[in-house]
Amino acid sequence: MNTQVPIVGAIEELRRYVGARRAAGERIGLVPTMGALHAGHLSLVEAARRTADRVVVTIFVNPAQFGPNEDFARYPRTLAADVEKLSSVGADLVFAPMADEIYPPGFATKVVMEGPACADLEDRFRPTHFSGVATVVTKLLNQAQADVAVFGEKDYQQLLVIKRLARDLDIATEILGAPTLREADGLAMSSRNIYLSREERERARQLHDTLTDAARRILHGDDIGAATGAARARLADAGFDIDYLEARHAETLAPVSSLDEGPIRLLAAAKLGATRLIDNIAVQS
Ligand code: PAF
Repeated sequence: MNTQVPIVGAIEELRRYVGARRAAGERIGLVPTMGALHAGHLSLVEAARRTADRVVVTIFVNPAQFGPNEDFARYPRTLAADVEKLSSVGADLVFAPMADEIYPPGFATKVVMEGPACADLEDRFRPTHFSGVATVVTKLLNQAQADVAVFGEKDYQQLLVIKRLARDLDIATEILGAPTLREADGLAMSSRNIYLSREERERARQLHDTLTDAARRILHGDDIGAATGAARARLADAGFDIDYLEARHAETLAPVSSLDEGPIRLLAAAKLGATRLIDNIAVQS
């Protein structure tokens, strides 16, 4: 049986733990999450573990990053199961604050960004999302004072936003990206996959298949606009309602029209029924 990972809810307790471990010469890794943990999250814990002596996981469903018509109320909250999973991978501490610990009465500050937060991708469809993410992540990084924090490449634009905010705000924590974990048919693991009906789940694999084919075409010399256009048409035929599917520079997210402008990333968001899926892959051999 695994020993259950301790849970704290107060910033002060988190700081006390991290302070004591750092005073003992240990390196601290942080994995911020919104809970509803799956194997993808656990792989972030393992990535943190490879570079740190102690791994702290935060679980907080951040209201500020959900738009008014998004799924904040129904977002899965599964703390007991999450804690069990984190215990099984040997996480050292869970920080699971209540909303007023993070946003006390009178809270009046927002981190609003340009650069990767205004790339006309997720931000076009979720205009307040990255301000909500940047605000909470700035707070979590300040609260934890970890040496390194790990975020998934699945939310690729988010990863670049967080790297940039840490750099711009002189936050000393090193920000690491970790690869997307996929189901056997290629669907990127996501806490939102449980919203898919059985029939939608069968079709959902086409998002990754389509991105993979488009990347292959681009690598074989096809015109980028033609390859992404064909990918959009294929997804639309499969019943996806596409928000975007685009080729961008992997570091700046600037639009690209030729392989010479690379490294290139293909990024997509599309709805299947009421469920919005996002995915991205590198265009590389
Ligand atoms: O990727 C997530 O789960 C969230 O956006 C994050 C980084 C934990 C901030 O709430």
